[in-house]
Amino acid sequence: MKIVDARFVGSSTRVAQKPSAKLPEFAFIGRSNVGKSSLINMLTGNRKLAMTSATPGKTKLINHFLINSSWYLVDLPGYGFAKLPQSGRDEIKRIIRDYIMNSEEMVMLFVLVDSRHDIGKIDLDFISELGENRIPFSIIFTKCDKQGPNVLARQIERDQALLLQQWEELPPMFLSSSENGMGKDEILDYIESVLSST
Ligand code: GTP
Ligand code: MG
Repeated sequence: MKIVDARFVGSSTRVAQKPSAKLPEFAFIGRSNVGKSSLINMLTGNRKLAMTSATPGKTKLINHFLINSSWYLVDLPGYGFAKLPQSGRDEIKRIIRDYIMNSEEMVMLFVLVDSRHDIGKIDLDFISELGENRIPFSIIFTKCDKQGPNVLARQIERDQALLLQQWEELPPMFLSSSENGMGKDEILDYIESVLSST
C-alpha cells in the first residue's frame, strides 16, 4: 500500500464529534511520548502532519487524518503522563476510553511500546482491558533505531515473555523507527490486508 494523500480533517474530544464520513479507522495509542504522532508522520511521509514534541503530553485530542480519501489514521492522546494534574489525566482517560469503546469504525488499534524498556504494567493493564472488551489490537515497538540489533532482539523477547504471562497467543507485532523508516512497508501492508478483509 502506498499513501498518496494524507490530510488532517479534525480534532475531537468525543466520538460523537468525530468526522462525519464513516470510513475504517486505524488508531494509535500508547504511553505519552512513545512516538505515536511521529509514526503517523513517518507512515504518511509528511513530517509536519501530526504535531510531535520531545515533551510528553503533546497530543491532547483525537486527531483524524484522512488517507487516500478512503480510510483514517487516528492519533490519540498518550496515557500515563505522570506530570499532568489528576483532572487532566482523568480527562485523557475519558477521551481514550470513549473513543476505543464507542468508535464503531475503528478496525484496528495499534498499541505502541518503547522498544528500549520492558513493557510496563500500565501497558499490560491497558492491553488486558482491550482483551476483555474484544477490541482488535496489534503492537508496534517504537524507536528501534536507538539500540543495536542484538539488544533490540533481546528486549523484544523479554516483552513477548511478559505478554505470554497474560496471553495464550501473541498479537501481530511490528518493529518501527520514525527516524529511519523501519517498519513502514510492513505496517502499511498489514493495514491493507485488514482493509481488504473488512
Ligand atoms: P504524546 O502526543 O505526548 O502522547 O507523544 P507521542 O507518543 O505522540 O510522541 P511523539 O511522536 O511526539 O514523539 C516523542 C519524542 O520521541 C519526540 O522527540 C520524537 O522525535 C521522538 N521519537 C519518536 N519516534 C522516534 C523514533 O522512532 N526514533 C527516535 N530516535 N526518536 C523518536
Ligand atoms: Mg502525540
